[in-house]
Amino acid sequence: MNNIVLCGFMGCGKTSIGKKLARKLNMEFCDIDRYIEKQEKMKVQEIFAKRGEPAFRALETGAVRAVAKKRNTVVACGGGTVLNKANSDIFRQCGDTVLFLDVPLAALQERLKNDKKRPLLQVPDRQEVIRNLYNERISSYKKASDMIVPAGAPTVTVVNRICEKLKLK
Ligand code: S3P
Repeated sequence: MNNIVLCGFMGCGKTSIGKKLARKLNMEFCDIDRYIEKQEKMKVQEIFAKRGEPAFRALETGAVRAVAKKRNTVVACGGGTVLNKANSDIFRQCGDTVLFLDVPLAALQERLKNDKKRPLLQVPDRQEVIRNLYNERISSYKKASDMIVPAGAPTVTVVNRICEKLKLK
């Protein structure tokens, strides 16, 4: 079975949906951010703070290369992963199916309002930053994906939607 790759904005549910989907389909699960943290023995926040975002993005591409080689795996991307065309090209070349988890902006703003971990959101004007990033990114998520999954719903509902779309049970 080829990999199923979940992409989308921070807070869209890539990790929670990915874990449930993998369990249901009897597939492995891999989260790109956790993969990087394991390799670097450092949290994403620490990598951003100590080495900067460009260094994190380089690690992200390395992780995509390694993870895309796996089979039978549900992959949760980071919110920025597929914005780099090199990364989405790697998934495509590996024959992976990329799904965009589409959550409306207002719901993302609500879900992320108390976040303390994501480095890009530790700013005073968080709601505006989310809105700007969302507007900048939405077309790239759509371009990078094979299918768009409406995901502003409970996790189980989204998992079922994905299975229906992929004609899997
Ligand atoms: C990022 C999203 C994060 C993480 C990093 C950068 C982004 O992942 O990769 O903080 O650029 O949107 P989540 O989408 O899992 O929060």
